[in-house]
Amino acid sequence: MMILVTGGCGYIGSHTVVELLDDNRDVVIVDNFSNSSPNVLDSIKEITDKDFRFYKIDITNENDLEVVFKENKINSVIHFAALKAVGESVEKPLEYYYNNLNSTLVLLKLMKKYNVKNFVFSSSATVYGSPKTLPINEDFPLSTTNPYGASKLIIENILKDICKADSSFNVAILRYFNPVGAHKSGLIGENPNGIPNNLMPYITKVSIGELPFLNVYGNDYDTNDGTGVRDYIHVLDLANGHLKALDKIHTSPGLVIYNLGTGNGYSVLDLVNTYSKVNNVDIPYKIVERRAGDIAKCFADPTKANKELNWSCKYNLEDMCKDSYTFQLNSISNALSVD
Ligand code: NAD
Ligand code: UD1
Repeated sequence: MMILVTGGCGYIGSHTVVELLDDNRDVVIVDNFSNSSPNVLDSIKEITDKDFRFYKIDITNENDLEVVFKENKINSVIHFAALKAVGESVEKPLEYYYNNLNSTLVLLKLMKKYNVKNFVFSSSATVYGSPKTLPINEDFPLSTTNPYGASKLIIENILKDICKADSSFNVAILRYFNPVGAHKSGLIGENPNGIPNNLMPYITKVSIGELPFLNVYGNDYDTNDGTGVRDYIHVLDLANGHLKALDKIHTSPGLVIYNLGTGNGYSVLDLVNTYSKVNNVDIPYKIVERRAGDIAKCFADPTKANKELNWSCKYNLEDMCKDSYTFQLNSISNALSVD
């Protein structure tokens, strides 16, 4: 039973592939390295000591992707491949809609042709827009404010329509909150090119002196300390949620939707202080204007995933901060040893 993982060299995909291989599942990865590196394949091999198949292809190309379906007896698909930077999506909407929608349509078309019926989709808490109350459960109203979020919501609706038309098609839509942290080995993690947009990668760059200080976007929100509150989830817990979701859809439930978050909200300064404490490093910061489009607070009600998937988070904020730092230090020493 082969699992096709699109975007399996990316941040969340690579951690999920490790979980799958550790659980002795057969995996074929496809990725075009538009936001990842071939080195990740060696790291996955080193961590798991397991074999897997890999194709370097752009999955918007139907002919290339069809080869993968022809050469492998695929039973299920986990679809991570997408462009994911919110700000960039506002500047380059066409690229975002083209890549995120076409890749999914081509994939779904080939799944139909090759009679593959199980699909796990990476959605995002961004589809909840600006929630009126907290915590957020799966029945909250959906809305988006940028092309990235819109591409996720459009795909969710496409999947709902397909499930209505074909009662044998099984889909798990997973709405991630804020994934952070890295594999305990320090070999895989999140390493964005250029100046990071998201909080944890920015903090890690400050912690190693690559950036001088953190800009804290506003301290006048209605939160415990005035800074924005989010539901940070360790990428290992998130990855494990995909295995549980895969097992769930093999029971033929049709379409299921789950929040993957811890249910805890932490502020920007909670993260800064915890990171400083557990890693014994300084994180200088400046309070600046709010970032356009940010909301004050966002955290999940993960009860449905806890109950129906028998899934819960094992790692806390300290683990997330420690593992992010370990990965960052390891990346520097690898870069130095290559030089
Ligand atoms: P990532 O950029 O690290 O990984 C995505 C991978 O997909 C990359 O390796 C990239 O090279 C590949 N890819 C993109 N387009 C492709 C294409 N057309 N053909 C083949 N490969 C392609 O992102 P991530 O953080 O691992 O996110 C994975 C998924 O989760 C994405 O769908 C993202 O939108 C979603 N998500 C991420 C977050 C987050 O904060 N990281 C939050 C919510 C949802
Ligand atoms: C961002 C995306 C969201 C995506 C999520 C996944 C935006 C507007 N939203 O959400 O669609 O699903 O990532 O992880 O990009 N902050 C700072 N300084 C920084 C960076 C961030 O103070 O340099 C603050 C933000 O104001 C926010 C918190 O840190 O309060 C988290 O920000 P970030 O990591 O960018 O995630 P989100 O905005 O929640």
